[in-house]
Parts: sequence; structure tokens; C-alpha cells
Amino acid sequence: MNEAIRPGPESPQAPQPSPRSPELSVIVPTFNERDNVTVLYRRLEATLQGVAWEAIFVDDNSPDGTFDVVRSLAQHDSRVRCIRRIGRRGLSGACIEGILASSAPYAAVIDADLQHDEAQLPKMLALLRSGQADLVVGSRYIEGYKNEGFNKQRAGASQLATEVAKKVLQVEIADPMSGFFMIRTDRFGELAPKLSVHGFKILLDVVASAHGGLRAVEIPYTFGERQHGESKLDSMVALDFLGLVLAKLTNDAVSLRFLLFAMVGSIGLVVHLTTLFISLEVFKEPFAEAQAAGALVAMTSNFILNNFLTYRDQRLKGFAILRGLIAFYIVCSVGLFANVGVAFSVYDQEPIWWLAGMAGALMGVVWNYAMSGLFVWRK
Ligand code: GDD
Ligand code: MN
Repeated sequence: MNEAIRPGPESPQAPQPSPRSPELSVIVPTFNERDNVTVLYRRLEATLQGVAWEAIFVDDNSPDGTFDVVRSLAQHDSRVRCIRRIGRRGLSGACIEGILASSAPYAAVIDADLQHDEAQLPKMLALLRSGQADLVVGSRYIEGYKNEGFNKQRAGASQLATEVAKKVLQVEIADPMSGFFMIRTDRFGELAPKLSVHGFKILLDVVASAHGGLRAVEIPYTFGERQHGESKLDSMVALDFLGLVLAKLTNDAVSLRFLLFAMVGSIGLVVHLTTLFISLEVFKEPFAEAQAAGALVAMTSNFILNNFLTYRDQRLKGFAILRGLIAFYIVCSVGLFANVGVAFSVYDQEPIWWLAGMAGALMGVVWNYAMSGLFVWRK
């Protein structure tokens, strides 16, 4: 076995479970995994014989009805539980919620799609039980690992992100992007308030937030092929990753969401000026109408871009789009007043046009961002 033991304080032994409570909670985040969950349950049952275990499925209200399948498993076996989350999406958030719902001393996170090797769980548990580690990671970057599930492109991108994370965040484990690990729940509970519920990179977040305070052991496993359904990681996960790195680097001072919102706002300015120009030059409209058209087109394109990019994890769909768009128009209109008001009062004090203009624009974007989070893409 290949071990990488992190320096860190000796942790006292984890509390021992009473005979009737589980020692290990296996957290299984699911989104559209109807055809995989029963197979996974059977495999857990077989591999964890002799262990007091439970499985906590955390399902984000999958349209394919995964929770119904899990419920029927739970009706036959009280070791199975299902947390069904409504109106929320996100792998990290689901894992955090699952681990926090556990009262066992140890919790594992494993994908539902059978790509992770559940047969490693007893070995992982033994390492935690022995007190040698606080965290055991199923790792793709140590001797003995086999990849059957990732294509070359995905493997390359993942490797690059891993290198960046290790350098920038000074994370020392070989595979901080792994979605397969087991951790002491008491240590996790201490870190939980610092963790981000957005994105996919829960383990990276855990080790970066611990600042080397977790003793980690990595073990190799075989990353298998997905059995049914498809991966939920799209090309936008790169954004989630950047967001996490940025947040951790700046101690949560800078959020990627705000940067994206501001970036969309700058694109909006270009859209506004282009529309203004076309209305004036091509359609020969009076200035007031042309300016109003520019504002309307820019607000609409900002809304679409923000819905697609900035708030992709809370994307409005169907009828909610219309309600959101109207709310966004109102928020931005009030934001414009705030913008002009601040610009005026700065200009009054110090008649420097660019300073006043910038203060107004900053006020506008902060206002729009704060209010959009409350009224447009509200949780
Ligand atoms: N509750 C919930 N909510 N579960 C989700 C969500 C979500 O929004 N998105 C994905 N999941 C579940 C899936 O149902 C699956 O059980 C697991 O999370 C992993 O999702 P996949 O879509 O299969 O991800 P992947 O195979 O491309 O990537 C996995 O392996 C990578 C390498 O180890 C993930 O575990 C990554 O985190 C990991 O980096
Ligand atoms: Mn998968």
C-alpha cells in the first residue's frame, strides 16, 4: 500500500459507537441514478458484512425518480435512508448534508454510478479505526491505480486541475479531486462551517480548509466505467473549480459569482452601447428611445448570461424565467437610481468625472448583485 501521511496533530481516538448505532455511514449523492442505486446497495451489503453500516442517499429530487427506488430499498432495510432535497442542486452540498446527517464516527462518500470501488471500504475503515489517519482517500495518482472510466481528455483536464490545486492551495495529497473518501465525522464537523456547498470539489475543499491539520492516507483503486445513465460533470466544472480556488485563496473574500456577475455587467455595457448606436444610426430613433432600447436589450442579455453562467447551479427554467426577468428589470432599474445617486454625491464633493462615474457603477453592480441574489435567483 502506498501511504502519504500528512503531518498534523495527533488526534484522539474517534468516539466508539454503541452496539446498536452504525459505525460507518456511506453517503451516496445521487442525481438521476435510478438504475444504479439497487446494484450499489447490494454491493455495499456484500462488502460490508460484519460492519455496523448505514447508507445515506442524498438525492436532489431527481426527475427519474431515484428517491422512489431508494425509498423502497429503505422499506426493506432500515440501514438505508434517503434525504430528498427540493430546489437545490450540487454534489458538494449533497455530500456535506449527508455527512452531517450521520451520527456514526466515520463517513464515506462514494458515487452512485459504480465507478468507485466499494470493495475498498473495509480497508479504508480499518485505517481510520486504527487511528493512523483522519481521512482515507481513494486516489488515482498513486501506484496501483487503474483507470477504466475516464477518457484521455477528461483525465488530462483533471490532472491539470490537480496540479494547480496542489501548487496554489498547497494541498499535499496526490488526488484532492477524488470523489471517493472516508473521514472521521468529528473532524469533518469541525471543518463543515468553512466548506462551500457549490461545485464538485468537496475533498479539495476539506483538505484546503484543514490547512494540513488532517492526517491523510491514500489508497489506490480502480476507477470503473459508469454502469447506467450519464455523467453530470459538464464543461462548466472548470468554473466551479476556479471559484473554489479563488474563495480559498482569498479566505472567502472574493467570490467567483460576484466576479462573473461583474463580468456579465461589463459585457452588458458593450451590448448597451451597440444597441444605442444601431438605434440612432440605422433606425434613426430619437436619443431617449434609443437609450431606453439599449438599456432594455442590455438588461435582457445580462439576465440570460447570468442565468446561464453566474447562477448556473440555480438556473431558472420554464415560467420562472419570466418572473425572474421581470424581477431583474426592477432590480436593475432601482440599481440605476442608486448608481446615479452615488455618482452625483461623489461629484458634488469632488468634481472628478471618472471617480464619480466609477463610484456610481460600483454601487450599481454591488446593488444589482445583492438584490439579484435575494429576489431573482433566490434560494
Ligand atoms: N445529490 C446530487 N446532486 N448528486 C449529484 C449531483 C447533484 O447535483 N451531481 C452529481 N451527483 C452525483 C451523481 O449522481 C453520482 O452519483 C456522483 O454524484 C458523481 O457524479 P458523476 O456525474 O458520475 O461524476 P463523474 O463520474 O464525472 O466524476 C466523479 O469522479 C471524479 C473523479 O473521481 C466525481 O466523483 C468527481 O467528484 C470526481 O472528481
Ligand atoms: Mn461518475
